[in-house]
Amino acid sequence: MATYSVAVIVGSLRKESFSLKIAKALEKLAHPSLTFDIVTLGGLSFYNQDLEATPPADWVAFRDRVRKADAVLFVTPEYNRSVPGVLKNAIDVGSRPYGKSAFDGKPAGIISNSPGAIGAFGANHHLRQSLTFLNMPILQQPEAYIGGIGDAFDDKGDLVKDSLREFLTKYLAAFAAWVAQQKK
Ligand SMILES: Cc1cc2nc3c(=O)[nH]c(=O)nc-3n(C[C@H](O)[C@H](O)[C@H](O)COP(=O)(O)O)c2cc1C
Repeated sequence: MATYSVAVIVGSLRKESFSLKIAKALEKLAHPSLTFDIVTLGGLSFYNQDLEATPPADWVAFRDRVRKADAVLFVTPEYNRSVPGVLKNAIDVGSRPYGKSAFDGKPAGIISNSPGAIGAFGANHHLRQSLTFLNMPILQQPEAYIGGIGDAFDDKGDLVKDSLREFLTKYLAAFAAWVAQQKK
């Protein structure tokens, strides 16, 4: 069975981030055809087109990490019904310089989450708009709007909500099949 590497980009900087916990839970679910590189965005400086002549080392490292991956999975919360600024910045950094986007053509998935009921639907779909422009084929089904994330993890960060474990397992199976199909 072929193995595909997945850059899992986490849209929150918070130490106790639910998005980060979901990313780690995905890794622990250990799908046989996927390996994960969890990418956090704390060290990524703001995009500034003036710096492209000599891009900051953190941009270069981020672009390389995305470039190396076969696929990209975004795990993100919603801020004010949209994508958190740190994640939008990462998309902007990875997408440039023009014509050399690290994201170009990579199969993608989006898992949005919230303690609230709507599961960060707004962030999920704003992100879809950018990824479509970036020529990233996005897994359509199952959609992943995870609401009520507040009781999904214990004090150690382990996933304790069986319904979510089941859903993430199914999601990974669909994502792995999608990546394999795109990489044919
Ligand atoms: C600036 C800000 C805006 C937020 N806006 C939303 C929102 O629009 N929708 C929502 O469901 N939750 C919103 N929240 C609550 C987040 O879903 C919650 O803080 C979540 O835990 C953040 O994700 P994380 O756990 O991965 O850090 C917002 C939180 C912050 C700090």
